[in-house]
Amino acid sequence: MYRIIFPLFLFEVVLIENGWTEEIQIPSVLKICNRSNPHLNECIKYSVDSLKPYLKSGIPEFNIPPCEPLHVPQVEIKQDAGPVSISSNYSNIKIAGGSDFNLKSVKIDADNDRIRLKLYIPRLTMTSNYNMSGKILMLPITGHGQARGNFSDIDAIVTIQGERYQGSNTTQIYFRVLDCYCDFEVGHASLYLENLFNGDETLADTMNLFLNDNWRAVAAEIKPALEDTVGRMFKNFSNKIYSKYPLDQLLPP
Ligand SMILES: *[C@@H]1O[C@H](CO)[C@@H](O)[C@H](O)[C@H]1NC(C)=O
Ligand SMILES: *[C@@H]1O[C@H](CO)[C@@H](O)[C@H](O)[C@H]1NC(C)=O
Ligand SMILES: *[C@@H]1O[C@H](CO)[C@@H](O)[C@H](O)[C@H]1NC(C)=O
Ligand SMILES: *[C@@H]1O[C@H](CO)[C@@H](O)[C@H](O)[C@H]1NC(C)=O
Ligand SMILES: *[C@@H]1O[C@H](CO)[C@@H](O)[C@H](O)[C@H]1NC(C)=O
Ligand SMILES: *[C@@H]1O[C@H](CO)[C@@H](O)[C@H](O)[C@H]1NC(C)=O
Repeated sequence: MYRIIFPLFLFEVVLIENGWTEEIQIPSVLKICNRSNPHLNECIKYSVDSLKPYLKSGIPEFNIPPCEPLHVPQVEIKQDAGPVSISSNYSNIKIAGGSDFNLKSVKIDADNDRIRLKLYIPRLTMTSNYNMSGKILMLPITGHGQARGNFSDIDAIVTIQGERYQGSNTTQIYFRVLDCYCDFEVGHASLYLENLFNGDETLADTMNLFLNDNWRAVAAEIKPALEDTVGRMFKNFSNKIYSKYPLDQLLPP
């Protein structure tokens, strides 16, 4: 079950078809934990931790690219209530530092198909292209260009609600993610939006200063939309992997 953890999508590329059983082998870099293990939470925490080095360097023999930085093709954040009402699109997003996460705890609630992870990320740096228009704390904002951000001291809680279902052509039981809730607390952030207000430098500098002075208030407004976006991405990635392995293979009885 620990494969839901965010690096999951990496393993999509390493699926090896076992020709004569039709069963897809789980790559051996992943440690499998038995369901009956009395220390299941610790076992899964250990499994996730032992994946960290692979995330950074990739696994060339299986064609897995390094996941530092993490590349996200596109995200749309639409916020239309309260003091922040903006439409913004981000593309070619590169996030570095995520694989330095420190997994603080894993809690499996097998009866309810629920998993909770607590992690700490010391530092993330992000670059992307952005388009934005709307209002932030009453001030109009428009722009498009490159966005850069540094974020540090990030505490995250990820809660995954799954369900079991029967595969269509088999008696095997599978697992899928129904919902994924993410909650972030960022200790510090600094942002820079290039080319705000079509290059009007005075307005742009003022807005960048304003954003950095008020990032907590801005972040608090955008947080629900951001958490929702991350949760949906996580769910999307995880389910593509999950559907390939029966639960008894992921978490043997
Ligand atoms: C898991 O169970 C299998 C079969 O009962 C056993 O061979 C294996 O050693 C167990 N693995 C762990 C890590 O306990
Ligand atoms: C922003 O819009 C421009 C054209 O208006 C487009 O070329 C660019 O790809 C867009 N960027 C994003 C991040 O949506
Ligand atoms: C973001 O993309 C959506 C859908 O493509 C579009 O409707 C919206 O106008 C875009 N927003 C900006 C600020 O470019
Ligand atoms: C079920 O198995 C049949 C025969 O192997 C195959 O043609 C069909 O595509 C399978 N359906 C699904 C949903 O996997
Ligand atoms: C992020 O940190 C780097 C290195 O410390 C610095 O060069 C860069 O200007 C920072 N970017 C922002 C947007 O604060
Ligand atoms: C899920 O991922 C696929 C391909 O990676 C993408 O086309 C699709 O838009 C994503 N869906 C959501 C809801 O993010």
